[in-house]
Amino acid sequence: MRRIAAVAAALLILGIVGVSAYFAGMRAKEPELPPPRAEISVEETDNEVFGRYYPREYESYKKNYDMSKGPSVYGGSQERSNLEAYPYMKTLWKGYGFAEEYNEDRGHVYAIEDVKKTKRNPPKAVCWTCKSTEVPKAIREMGDAYYSTPFKEAAGRFKTPVGCSDCHDPKTMQLRITRPAFIEAMEREGKDVTKANRQEMRTYVCAQCHVEYYFEKDTYKLHFPWEKGKDPEQVYNYYQEIKHTDFTHPDSGTEVLKGQHPDYEMFLDGPHQSRGVACADCHMPYIVQGNTKISSHWWTSPLKHMESSCGVCHRGSMEELRQRVLYTQDRTKDLLDRAGKANVEAINAIAEAAKNPRVNKNKLAEARALHRESQWYWDWVSAENSMGFHNPQKAMNTLGKSLDLASRARDLARQAVQP
Ligand code: HEC
Ligand code: HEC
Ligand code: HEC
Ligand code: HEC
Repeated sequence: MRRIAAVAAALLILGIVGVSAYFAGMRAKEPELPPPRAEISVEETDNEVFGRYYPREYESYKKNYDMSKGPSVYGGSQERSNLEAYPYMKTLWKGYGFAEEYNEDRGHVYAIEDVKKTKRNPPKAVCWTCKSTEVPKAIREMGDAYYSTPFKEAAGRFKTPVGCSDCHDPKTMQLRITRPAFIEAMEREGKDVTKANRQEMRTYVCAQCHVEYYFEKDTYKLHFPWEKGKDPEQVYNYYQEIKHTDFTHPDSGTEVLKGQHPDYEMFLDGPHQSRGVACADCHMPYIVQGNTKISSHWWTSPLKHMESSCGVCHRGSMEELRQRVLYTQDRTKDLLDRAGKANVEAINAIAEAAKNPRVNKNKLAEARALHRESQWYWDWVSAENSMGFHNPQKAMNTLGKSLDLASRARDLARQAVQP
């Protein structure tokens, strides 16, 4: 009996060692951080200056000008209109800037150009926050007054799009966080971002921009709404508590919320994040540049370079894996459209009921509340950038809730008119 226990224990230990060796083997050998070049000043924001010292990373950074769609179906850098691809969005965003123009995101190097030309007319400097690498300096110099400065008045300060100093300490090239809103949101959770480990930082540098946010009343200060948690339901409850609204829908009278791009929040608890995979693992894979291994600085759809992004951990055919991604994305898109159209039906039913003098005001208010929540859940998946891939279960669950709430809103609006 004792011998069996010993053999079992030995097998167990071997198993644990085997599994951890397997997971360790999954990660490619990381490139060494080159010795720090103290010549770069802490205030430096010019990518070209960094490029002189780190030419290989700079070379790959320049690939961000590439505007191809690649083999991607739902992503890729090509600039295209979401309003054309999803015509029902025009009804959902009626009365708000997003109904005028709503384009698919593209590369980091276009961030300044795109925010300058959008017809949505950003009102305040806060809209520069995730576009330019000169922003942290502006915040240091201007304090919180930066956020509410008129957008055009601040424009002269910002010439360099997302760049090296946003994620790197110029002296040591260690990863760092430069956006106060992320640091403050983590502080509220009792987390000190300067203590984060390397793998966490490989996600946090992205989470300073690729998240949901809102502007505080009057001050326009940037705020991440994570007080109750980072799931769409928790963020919704927080917005309910502070009574936040982005616009009132002209037809339905609903006080609507517009989501931003909750890429980080969606990614949490998904199949990859729960296994310790970071944004940079897929979006900044190790590549060979010249004779050296570096982290790719071309932020784009990983479907353009699956061998280096996914092949590190996933053996077998990359084409089959791409089909798995599409399987998730196609199904997410199907439910996204159904939920979007259900929200249009809710808007129309509420608008119809509101015009009727015999409407039950309480039921109408309740229908609007249901619509506010249903459109929020639809938008959470719509505004996120991976069409469900970052977290298939969360995407499907969130869309299911949207569909349910939108149908209830529509039915209630119809019942609200007394015969
Ligand atoms: C396991 C790999 C993986 C990880 C980890 C990952 N992503 Fe992605 N990401 C993808 C794939 C696959 C797509 C879909 C690309 C497409 O549809 O072409 C995508 C899409 C995107 C897009 C849209 C790209 C485009 O072409 O429009 C953004 C932005 C993005 N991810 C940001 C992030 C951020 C931020 C994180 C971390 C919080 C993250 N991703 C983590 C694989 C990953
Ligand atoms: C959006 C964030 C971000 C920006 C912007 C950025 N980097 Fe990086 N960089 C990273 C991450 C993440 C790593 C991987 C670090 C790690 O694994 O510890 C990295 C790694 C590096 C390294 C270490 C060696 C290597 O290749 O892994 C160098 C050098 C570097 N970057 C230079 C640059 C230069 C030069 C620029 C501007 C042209 C730049 N980076 C812009 C996030 C960024
Ligand atoms: C300082 C803010 C900021 C940081 C930090 C940042 N991003 Fe972005 N990212 C943006 C903006 C803004 C855009 C959209 C630019 C546009 O459409 O003009 C974008 C777009 C993207 C895209 C879409 C590119 C395409 O081809 O469609 C990907 C992928 C992406 N980011 C990944 C990442 C990853 C991964 C990280 C972390 C390593 C990161 N980003 C860090 C602001 C940021
Ligand atoms: C650092 C390792 C790592 C990288 C890089 C990685 N994956 Fe994964 N992937 C995993 C792990 C671990 C799982 C979970 C495996 C399991 O549960 O058996 C997983 C699961 C998956 C799944 C199935 C989960 C689901 O239900 O969606 C797909 C599909 C997938 N990965 C695609 C990709 C693609 C595409 C890329 C590249 C863009 C990629 N992965 C990059 C480690 C990785």
